[in-house]
Amino acid sequence: MGFAYCREATGLRMEAKKQLRIAATADLHCKKTSRDSIKDLLSAMAKEADILLFAGDLCDTGLPEEAQLLAQEIVRIKLPVVAVLGNHDFESGKEAEVASILSDAGANVLDGKCCEIYGIGFAGVKGFCGGFGDRALQSWGEPAIKTFVYEAVTTPERIALLHYAPIIDTVVGEPPEIAPFLGSSRLEEPLNRYAVRAAFHGHAHHGTPEGATPQGVPVYNVAKPLLERVFIGRAPFRILEIESHESTNPALTPEPLPFIAMSFAF
Ligand SMILES: [Fe+2]
Ligand SMILES: [Fe+2]
Repeated sequence: MGFAYCREATGLRMEAKKQLRIAATADLHCKKTSRDSIKDLLSAMAKEADILLFAGDLCDTGLPEEAQLLAQEIVRIKLPVVAVLGNHDFESGKEAEVASILSDAGANVLDGKCCEIYGIGFAGVKGFCGGFGDRALQSWGEPAIKTFVYEAVTTPERIALLHYAPIIDTVVGEPPEIAPFLGSSRLEEPLNRYAVRAAFHGHAHHGTPEGATPQGVPVYNVAKPLLERVFIGRAPFRILEIESHESTNPALTPEPLPFIAMSFAF
């Protein structure tokens, strides 16, 4: 049995609010020179949303000082944050320190686990490559998939956050020969099985911003370099509006706690 702790939302802005706005981006690739652009991006996201999602490659070379740049901004904006790491966050072998820096700043850094914010369940995992459809490697990533979108997530709405792509549609635009390195269709099955409301991923910087599983689960590629190209005149993040399932009746709303815990069996 393990536990994942989630920052409970206590912001006054949620009172009597039914529509939640989730802002998602990925592939920030934070480095020394990114301080101002990261500050501007998070400020813009915080202005438009109630919850922020970061789908991996938060650091450029996986260094703790790069994670600190993002951590400072997470502390400053004071909104719930859910994140997964990407392959670049592992590049220096300091991924545990990177995750810890972001967690200490208040982010829910998920790795095969889930958390709940404002009554919405978030399942997150970096994922893996391996290819799509008939060309997928069959035994790739089996242990990781078992812990993704675990059935303990019992919220009416579920959101999945990955770094690697779960469908080929959102990597279209990348050279076909590198598709096996951009994601795996083995990540798609849990999205359908647990009927997630939407899935966000990054990693495919030259992919396609929107797709869907054959069962109709929307999949959004929110890689920042991609959104910078397609969202002309807009900041590079996607907004998803979703209905809050929390009661807005104060008589039915428990006193806010600093953290809530969800349990998972592995
Ligand atoms: Fe990236
Ligand atoms: Fe990546």
